[in-house]
Amino acid sequence: MKNKFGVVTVFTIILSLFLIVGIVTWNIGTKSSPTLAIWNKLINSGLNQDPQRSTEPPLSTELEMSILERLKEGQYTFRFDTFGDEAFWGDTLKLHQAIAGQNLGGVGPGVSPNTALSVGLKVDSEALPANLRRGLEEGKVDLDDPASTLVLLKNNAVVGVTGFFNDQDELTSIGIQCALCHSTVDNSFAPGIGKRLDGWANRDLNVGAIIGLSPNLKVIADRLGTNVDTVKKVLASWGPGKFDAELLEDGKGFRPDGKPAATLLPPAFGLSGINLSTWTGWGTVTYWNAYVANTQMMGQGTFYDPRLLNSKKYPIAVKTGDWDIKNSPDLITPKLADLHAYQLALTAPKPPENSYDQEAAGRGEILFNDKAKCASCHVPPLYSEPGYAIHSPAEMGIDSFQAQRSPTNGYRTSPLRGLWTHQKGGFFHDGRFADLPEVINHYDKLLKLNLTAEEKTDLVEFLKSI
Ligand code: HEC
Ligand code: HEC
Repeated sequence: MKNKFGVVTVFTIILSLFLIVGIVTWNIGTKSSPTLAIWNKLINSGLNQDPQRSTEPPLSTELEMSILERLKEGQYTFRFDTFGDEAFWGDTLKLHQAIAGQNLGGVGPGVSPNTALSVGLKVDSEALPANLRRGLEEGKVDLDDPASTLVLLKNNAVVGVTGFFNDQDELTSIGIQCALCHSTVDNSFAPGIGKRLDGWANRDLNVGAIIGLSPNLKVIADRLGTNVDTVKKVLASWGPGKFDAELLEDGKGFRPDGKPAATLLPPAFGLSGINLSTWTGWGTVTYWNAYVANTQMMGQGTFYDPRLLNSKKYPIAVKTGDWDIKNSPDLITPKLADLHAYQLALTAPKPPENSYDQEAAGRGEILFNDKAKCASCHVPPLYSEPGYAIHSPAEMGIDSFQAQRSPTNGYRTSPLRGLWTHQKGGFFHDGRFADLPEVINHYDKLLKLNLTAEEKTDLVEFLKSI
């Protein structure tokens, strides 16, 4: 009797165990928790090969929740927050009037979706309601009509641009976001229309042409102490994939050799572990976020940097007070922490498997770390120096114009991950080298590397693989 009871108990326990394991795995399978995915990745990544680490407890639930909450907030800010900058782009520059066109209460011919796509603006296909998607698929949306652009704006589908509408559905203002320059789409719906790729540099975007549409460029001319024609010339000189984030502080429209002063839009991913951001290392990522949100996007916040209180180097910043900005209410500062967290979480995307020659890349990696001396600055796996990664123009074998516009007077060692995502527009801060072979040839001469033709190709394949 006793014995029989024991067997039943053991049987029940085993059955319950199966049930529990079943429920847990089912839950994991259906809910596919992102935290769990991260955890699994950690376990499989080799970080956990240390036997002691396999017994490490998971993150506390509170920490997991707080990380996810911050990333969500940061993503929202990156994609959708104008920081009140519509006061500048709409109310002052009146870009919304140029977009609507005279038939819809604005000025000029208006901006059709086709025109918008041609200056590199991107459309988020996931933001399109079903009927609009169908209309686009069936070719029933007139892409040459500015009214269609307003429909896209109304649906929040133009990446990095927010339209403001009144009760009569008239476009009354327009604001911009980080995603304008630092996101693109995967073209899965049509060219220029697809799912968002946050952090990717939009090298199709012609910022100069877009600002040039403004019916009120006099505001910028007055700020720079020049005339509208000169402002137009400067904006037209930038071309696709470029912007000048220092013009409004130092007033330098062109280089001394007459070439454009703008720099390439860099990616905003792959920056975790990197100390200094921007081509010339102005400061940390969060420093730069505050700089750009306040002084370039013209959001309403707080910014302080006494390095700009230098009338020789930054005459405009001194005149306008950009070195010490205070707005009330402050629409930027409360968002900086989560925005920072989100950006640091954006890792550089891996290249598609067949986009490079794996064997050549393997040989290239050895060259990168040894004979070609690249790793002496681009230290793997960050591909920039831990510490203060600034080099003088002479060390880089290039001119000092852009370096001297920064408080560092130097160039920051570019973190090289995800190079494959921005092959358009060239390389180095101003795109002076059209492609990677040109970059390698520059270093070959500068560092007297004596690389053979094959070694150069191997290095290029390696650069495409990281
Ligand atoms: C109009 C286009 C534009 C917008 C909008 C813009 N940026 Fe940038 N961003 C640039 C350019 C150009 C640079 C390079 C500046 C330089 O080196 O002088 C840059 C640099 C950066 C960098 C440094 C990348 C690196 O390699 O270190 C980060 C980070 C960044 N931006 C984040 C942001 C965030 C966050 C926002 C929104 C608050 C934003 N940007 C809005 C054009 C833009
Ligand atoms: C002395 C330090 C140093 C060495 C050595 C060096 N680099 Fe660089 N690298 C830099 C700096 C600084 C920049 C940024 C230049 C600029 O923005 O104008 C850069 C930029 C680049 C870029 C352009 C990145 C972009 O987004 O446009 C590539 C590619 C590159 N380096 C590859 C290499 C390779 C390959 C080697 C070896 C042959 C190498 N580097 C050696 C410091 C170095």
